[in-house]
Amino acid sequence: MILLDGKKTSSDIKDELRKEVDELVSSGVKKPHLAAILVGSNGASETYVGAKVKACEQVGFDSTLVRFNEDVSELDLLNEINKINNNKNIDGLIVQLPLPNHIDELKVTQAINVEKDVDGFHPTNIGRMALNLSTYLPATPAGIMELLSRYNIKTSSKHCVVVGRSHIVGSPMSILMARNNTPGNCTVTLTHSRTKNLKEITRTADILIVALGKAQFINSEMIKDGACIIDVGINRVKSEKTKSGWKLLGDVDFDSVANMCSSITPVPGGVGPMTIAMLLKNTLKSAKNKCY
Ligand code: GUN
Repeated sequence: MILLDGKKTSSDIKDELRKEVDELVSSGVKKPHLAAILVGSNGASETYVGAKVKACEQVGFDSTLVRFNEDVSELDLLNEINKINNNKNIDGLIVQLPLPNHIDELKVTQAINVEKDVDGFHPTNIGRMALNLSTYLPATPAGIMELLSRYNIKTSSKHCVVVGRSHIVGSPMSILMARNNTPGNCTVTLTHSRTKNLKEITRTADILIVALGKAQFINSEMIKDGACIIDVGINRVKSEKTKSGWKLLGDVDFDSVANMCSSITPVPGGVGPMTIAMLLKNTLKSAKNKCY
């Protein structure tokens, strides 16, 4: 079984990015600059945004973190987005999701300038992705594609089953795996909460991508011998064994499937670090005006 090591791969990508940034800066171009907006103090979002800011530092980017209280009005948030859209020094803008219920996520996503939308969540960029045009790919699906590519996992003509249809992972993942590209060219089945006989479907997957948010949901009875398994889940569960009082578990029961699969991403250290590396890649692309 091959461990698809996202920690090592993301570190390689960050080294490559660091080199490119150094070259850009020594040729007189300004550093790429990512702005992140964080609303409220959700523990997981704090961790993710903190990791994104730290990663910017590691590759030599500038970063700006704008924080709002949980009760910020939608208008104040939209005004801040507009300000950043018009700030020529900033190349990429992300608004960390989820947002509080009183804020319309779609309105916020659509307010971000498509040319700075390094999360790739704007409807225009999702459309461009579906049409195989140059765009910013959503970071988590892009990170999975990069892992498949760097580990030379064959995808053409394979059956890829995606579990979960979120706008951030499952839905774009299904589009990318079906596109006429490498990786890609899969026959894709997108499954979700209304899918009947899920086990019968997952057992036919050559490539199984799980983004469901349920700890250890997938076990050995649900996979085919020799499958490639991509576990997107990052579930915090209580643990008496760790100092912090919690640990991270994937959507896949790793120990149960490890002997059966041909390759698998661990949690932590699989898809998570790749997401951040791809966000940085998108930001550099924007700084170099490579997308639009
Ligand atoms: N919440 C969970 N994943 C993501 C992501 O990739 N980007 C943003 N902005 N919010 C998220």
